[in-house]
Amino acid sequence: MYGLRDILKYHRFVYILKFLLKRIMEKVLVCGGAGYIGSVLCGFLLDEGKQVTCLDNLTFGPQSLLHLADREGFRFMFGDVRDKSVLERVVKDQDVIIPLAAIVGAPQCNLNPVDAVLTNRDSVINLNSIRSSNQKFIYATTNSGYGTTSGETFCTEETPLNPISLYGRTKSDAEKAVLDSGKDVITLRLATVFGMSPRMRTDLLVNNFVMHAINEGYLVIYEGGFKRNYAHVTDISRCFAHCIEHFDAMKNRPYNVGLDEANLSKMELAEKIKEHVPKLDIISREVGSDVDRRNYIVSNARIAKEGFRCIFDLDFGIAEMIKGYGLMFGKEVARQ
Ligand SMILES: NC(=O)c1ccc[n+]([C@@H]2O[C@H](COP(=O)([O-])OP(=O)(O)OC[C@H]3O[C@@H](n4cnc5c(N)ncnc54)[C@H](O)[C@@H]3O)[C@@H](O)[C@H]2O)c1
Repeated sequence: MYGLRDILKYHRFVYILKFLLKRIMEKVLVCGGAGYIGSVLCGFLLDEGKQVTCLDNLTFGPQSLLHLADREGFRFMFGDVRDKSVLERVVKDQDVIIPLAAIVGAPQCNLNPVDAVLTNRDSVINLNSIRSSNQKFIYATTNSGYGTTSGETFCTEETPLNPISLYGRTKSDAEKAVLDSGKDVITLRLATVFGMSPRMRTDLLVNNFVMHAINEGYLVIYEGGFKRNYAHVTDISRCFAHCIEHFDAMKNRPYNVGLDEANLSKMELAEKIKEHVPKLDIISREVGSDVDRRNYIVSNARIAKEGFRCIFDLDFGIAEMIKGYGLMFGKEVARQ
C-alpha cells in the first residue's frame, strides 16, 4: 500500500526528472514558426525531443499552431523579427536558431519592397550578429537564386547566383552576409516546397496545380518548358533535424535541398498530376509570364554526401493534397 508520502516522493521524482530532461533537451528557436514550413517543422522538432520556441507575428493567424499549444516543450512568443530588442530577448538560452520569418515569394515582395528588405535580409543579419558563436544557425534560402538558366545543366552550389526578383535578391543577400560573417552557419537552398501544412500555401507551384486540377478539372500552362526542383515539406523538416545533428561536419557551406527525381518542367509536373486526376485537361497557352521567371535544374549531390536525401516523392505529395484539399474544399475526391 502506498501512502501520501510515497505519492509525494514519486511526484517530486517526476518533477526533478522533467527538470533535468529540460536542461539536456536541445532548445531550438524557429522565427516564422507559424508559417507553411515552420508549423510542420515545430511539430517535427518536438517529436524529435527538442524544446521549441516559435517567434512569429502571426501574419496568417494562430490556427497553424493550435495543434502544438499544449505540447510539452513548446513555447510561443508573439513578436516582430524586424524589432532588434525582440530578437535580443528571445535569442538568449537557445542552442539552435532557424530564421524562417520572411515576406515570401516575388509578388508579395514587390507589393512590400521595404518590408521585404527589412524582414528577409536585415532581420537575418541582426539575428546572426546578436547570437553567440556556439549557437547553431541554420538559414533557409531559396534555390530561386539560380534564376533563369538554359534549364539543361545542373546548378550546383558553385553555380553563380543570379536572382531575378527582389525576393531572390533579399534571400541571396542574407545568405551571403551570414556565410561571410565568420560565425558558423549552414545555409539551405530549398527547392519549391509541396505538401500539406497547417498554414497551407496554395501559391506554391505543385500545391497550386493540384488545387486547380481538383477544383476546376483543367490547367492552363504557360512557359511549360521551364524547369524547377521540388521538395516535400516533411523532408524539409527532416533536413533541418539532420543539420542540427551533423552541424559541425556540415557547417559553413550552402546546400541545395530537393528531390533528385523531381527536376521537372511545368508540363511534366502537370502530366504527373494527371496520373492522379485522370480527367484533368492540360491546356498549353502562352497567356502569361511568371513574375519570377525561374528555369533551372538542381543537383542535390552535396547534401547527399552528408547523408541526407529527400524521400517523400511527388506521388506521395499529390495523393496527400488530393485528400487534404478534399477536406479544405468539402469535396468528395476519392473518385477523381
Ligand atoms: N515554401 C517554399 O517553397 C520555400 C522555398 C525556399 C525557401 N523558403 C523560405 O522558407 C521560409 C519560410 O517560408 P514559408 O513557405 O513557410 O512561408 P510563410 O509565409 O508560410 O511563413 C513565413 C512566416 O513568417 C512570419 N513572419 C513574416 N514576417 C514576420 C515578421 N516581421 N516578424 C515575425 N514573423 C514574421 C509569418 O507570420 C509566417 O508565419 C522563408 O524564409 C522562405 O524564404 C520557402
